[in-house]
Amino acid sequence: MCGIFAYLNYNVSRDRRYILEILFNGLRRLEYRGYDSAGISIDSCSGDPSGDAPNSLLPPPLVFRQEGNIESLVKSVHKEVASTELNLDESFYVHAGIAHTRWATHGEPSPKNCHPQTSGAGNEFLVVHNGIITNYEVFKETLVRHGFSFESETDTEVIPKLAKYVFDRANEDGDQTVTFSQVVLEVMRHLDGAYALIFKSCHYPNELIACKRGSPLVLGVKELSEGTSTGASFLDLKFLSENGHPKEFFLSSDASALVEHTKRVLVIEDGELVHLKDGRVSVFKYDSDKGKHGTALSRPLSVQRALSILEMEVEQINKGKYEHYMQKEIHEQPESLTTTMRGRLMRGGSCKAKTVLLGGLKDHLKTIRRSRRIVFIGCGTSYNAALAARPILEELSGVPVTMEIASDLVDRQGPIYREDTAVFVSQSGETADTLLALAYALENGALCVGITNTVGSAIARRTHCGVHINAGCEIGVASTKAYTSQIVVMAMLALAIGDDTMSSQLRREAIVDGLFDLPNKVREALKLDQEMEDLAKLLIAEQSLLVFGRGYNYATALEGALKVKEVALMHSEGILAGEMKHGPLALVDENLPIIVIATHDACFSKQQSVIQQLHARKGRLIVICSKGDAALVCPSGSCRVIEVPQVEDCLQPVVNIIPLQLLAYHLTVLRGYNVDQPRNLAKSVTTE
Ligand code: F6R
Repeated sequence: MCGIFAYLNYNVSRDRRYILEILFNGLRRLEYRGYDSAGISIDSCSGDPSGDAPNSLLPPPLVFRQEGNIESLVKSVHKEVASTELNLDESFYVHAGIAHTRWATHGEPSPKNCHPQTSGAGNEFLVVHNGIITNYEVFKETLVRHGFSFESETDTEVIPKLAKYVFDRANEDGDQTVTFSQVVLEVMRHLDGAYALIFKSCHYPNELIACKRGSPLVLGVKELSEGTSTGASFLDLKFLSENGHPKEFFLSSDASALVEHTKRVLVIEDGELVHLKDGRVSVFKYDSDKGKHGTALSRPLSVQRALSILEMEVEQINKGKYEHYMQKEIHEQPESLTTTMRGRLMRGGSCKAKTVLLGGLKDHLKTIRRSRRIVFIGCGTSYNAALAARPILEELSGVPVTMEIASDLVDRQGPIYREDTAVFVSQSGETADTLLALAYALENGALCVGITNTVGSAIARRTHCGVHINAGCEIGVASTKAYTSQIVVMAMLALAIGDDTMSSQLRREAIVDGLFDLPNKVREALKLDQEMEDLAKLLIAEQSLLVFGRGYNYATALEGALKVKEVALMHSEGILAGEMKHGPLALVDENLPIIVIATHDACFSKQQSVIQQLHARKGRLIVICSKGDAALVCPSGSCRVIEVPQVEDCLQPVVNIIPLQLLAYHLTVLRGYNVDQPRNLAKSVTTE
């Protein structure tokens, strides 16, 4: 998983300094997707690219690649520029630049493994890639036999080399008119795996090609006369092709890197190829019917697409008054939860009943109610959110609910039946493990429901129906506000499924009331910020931390522990309190800090007994309890108690996770780690 970005200006003068800054900024926005190395390519001179001779070769583009984060790349580019004749003020009326930020999969972070990867000396074809090419070894062998030598350990390097091979063969066969799209379509024909790719070539100066299968890619179009925009929500690409206005084009793995430039976007679909040339956007479809063994370079199949308007504001992607994205995202949960519920909860007014409306599911609720089983599938935090929602879904639907970690389901090829409803939970909607599980469930004929935060993501597109969590852009690598919004969406899902059962009406109405009040309760819980910072100061040097929970809050224990381990780099384990006596109790002594979640619900008395048993073994206890319960959970007064507002039991995990998110955040800052970019992690895991 990586971030790719490109910028092409057409008919408008931009100097090299400006172009570099746009590329660097694009990478900064995408840095959460990977931050172990980065690279860019820009033109070495502004020559006359319009030349009549087809495939006329300009001097090779410049390529800069650097290990480390984006700022290391920025520094190294400026250092290199300062030591050469390169003029930052040189202007380009048209220029195509590409950029990449990497999370290593094949080959350690090092300049040779950074992107852009190249076709060889002369950088005739350059490629930035997000994804994994699974059949690269076969092509590597073939290309080596044809005289290519490989420098990197990446899977990506075969792609530019394959492009050069295709281009050279076409020219040797006398086809001097082979287009950039034809070359890349031919390359796509041979690639297996997942990819979003951007190509740049000195044979096709001032053109860019983007294509994708599996990994996300969005085109942004900015017409510099955009002030005269009609405001229409859709703008035909054909219209753009027919006027000669100066334009800027942006390609990005994620719309968050586009919103500061334009809101007019095209979400590129799997199998599509976008060709930017002469201010025009042409979209072609890779014709899979031609199979892998097609030989002649075929005329590409052109498709009509329309731009849509991005519903995202620049403020959403800035840190505002906060120091870190994670901090901002923790504190904006009252608002993100409100947005998640907006227009979906009904109470009073013309609607007498207290109920929920999930538009994306309304035609499928009957089928879900009749399912033999509901299977929740996800990874990491998304899995934990589903686990938190499982009890209420079982209670209100009466349908058995089982849990699957996506990779494990695929590894086992576990049973999924036509009569199952499979619910895929994913913030990004792009997680490779979850996508593989989705493909498997679709093959097995289950009804597939998607719960994601990313409109237009692969999971949103490939499931039969679903619900967007609408939590807003989440940039911190550790998921926080998406987690609480996912739980709320799944609680609403339970309400919608159980809506036809009279016997649970009072319970459902109480949950609807609880949902209305939830943002206020979360706001109250956020006041624990200072208390959690103080606790973090006490725990700063610890090696390990246990979190015990049960019932609704088993998921809270897992999620709290995951947050601490992934950002604060402290070993931390979430444990089902019912399992304590079956092993974990052996760890208890006066040194190991243990958090016990004991808010008021049906498991409360059992948690009281867990606390007593831990206490009897001199456990060092921190107890999270409902407001006013301190004396009940810790009669001896010897444990540290954190009191949270009490809400409806099934919504309590949304409140209880707040102090743990705050603890993870403060521990990380105090321990001096990068809270938004934890070591070795990236936001969207698009590799298996
Ligand atoms: C942890 C975290 C990860 C993700 C997991 C699945 O803070 O964010 O555990 O939850 O990688 O990602 P999505 O939800 O995008 O499928």
